[in-house]
Amino acid sequence: METLTLVGCQFGDEGKGKIIDYLSKDFDITVRFNGGENAGHTVVVDDQTIKYHLIPAGFLGSKTVVVAKGVVINIKRMREEIEFLSKFRKNFDLKVSDLSHVVTELHFKRDSEIEQMRGAGKIGTTLKGIGPAYESKFGRYGIRLVDFTNRTDLKDHLTLMSQIYRIPFDDGYVDGLMADYESIKKYVCDTREYLEDSINDGKSALFETANGTFIDIDSGTYPYVTSSYTTSAGVTVGTGLSPRYFNKFIGVAKAYTTRVGEGIFPTEMFGEDADKLRTLGNEFGTTTGRPRRVGHLDLPMLRRAVRLNSLDYLALTKVDILGKMSSIKVAVSYEYDGKEVKEFNPSRKPDKVNYENFNKWGTGKSNLRDYIGLIEDELKVPVVMVGIGEKRDAIEVYQRVSV
Ligand code: GDP
Ligand code: IMO
Ligand code: MG
Repeated sequence: METLTLVGCQFGDEGKGKIIDYLSKDFDITVRFNGGENAGHTVVVDDQTIKYHLIPAGFLGSKTVVVAKGVVINIKRMREEIEFLSKFRKNFDLKVSDLSHVVTELHFKRDSEIEQMRGAGKIGTTLKGIGPAYESKFGRYGIRLVDFTNRTDLKDHLTLMSQIYRIPFDDGYVDGLMADYESIKKYVCDTREYLEDSINDGKSALFETANGTFIDIDSGTYPYVTSSYTTSAGVTVGTGLSPRYFNKFIGVAKAYTTRVGEGIFPTEMFGEDADKLRTLGNEFGTTTGRPRRVGHLDLPMLRRAVRLNSLDYLALTKVDILGKMSSIKVAVSYEYDGKEVKEFNPSRKPDKVNYENFNKWGTGKSNLRDYIGLIEDELKVPVVMVGIGEKRDAIEVYQRVSV
């Protein structure tokens, strides 16, 4: 059985898109299994920047790409993304789960309303209706692709949702939604069955998470999280495949840490150094354009990510950017109530963070080797590749990933 599951080890935007694009060439199928268009996975192909939001970032590398049932879909956005991506690959094979839930304009409005109600305690969501879409799924008034049988049924579903949210919709919206559905209908199928049969027939599959470990609904810095399972445990519920199908896991971490939106960030940097790193790394959200908060690499955080996700491998991105900073620090432990602690607790801000210092590596790379050595020593997981630039082939591979 050849499957590999890829997760983000921090708060999202670790550079997963680029690593997925690279790995996907070795897999028959790439599968997205959580999140929605809150995700923005960037791949730079020649002079063209591709930002995947709903379609797996293995679109160019794998023969088939699958959007599994754990993903919540804004159908209009998916239609537009398919149109855009068709320029890059004519004969693609896309499958979308009939059990996926749909993000409607009611969800968008509810997302904004809830953020407003929270006031100063806002989460800083992407306002793409993600939380409400999962809320309606678990509240059992969500709308799945399989529910698009006819206009009358769709309108009934929307009416119930509209009553629950006390948000109106007009008749024209039903027609628009139905029309958008018609344009993606040919891709909709039972993806669990397809994946199970394909893997049993010897095909290989790469599973990509959206978002990052510490914005997982249960394992993250709640309530400053997204509403899906972003950790490796999410791959089974997100695809419908039993846990038997998954045994190899790779985590992507940025060489430093970034976060969009609110919530705990123990190694956050402020002032001139933070501005410099943000500018050098172009740390502005792929989906919303918001400036990302930036900070030092956090090994207690990565240690928890390694354990939560059972990581076999790590990929480290943006080492080229970090190498341009004149002083580089890595968090090696925290202190809580005067006691040294080695693992991040997403529910509690540490009293103190202990750091190790590094010199900039510039072109010589010897300090980069020390940096990677510290990560491997502390986490006991091999760093198998590093990202050294934005372009899709700017990767140095140290070790082949075997599945
Ligand atoms: P994702 O959500 O995890 O896929 O990450 P994003 O695409 O949102 O953000 C990562 C950003 O860093 C994108 O602009 C990528 O093009 C860029 N990037 C990824 N890897 C590297 C790298 O190794 N070096 C540099 N300079 N940029 C990178
Ligand atoms: P990728 O896949 C970074 C963050 C939002 C916000 C919180 C909740 O590109 O790594 P939501 O709209 O999901 O309800 O927002 O989660 N967030 C992300 N941050 N990268 C992402 O995805 C994110 N997806 C959600 O900024 O703080
Ligand atoms: Mg992103």
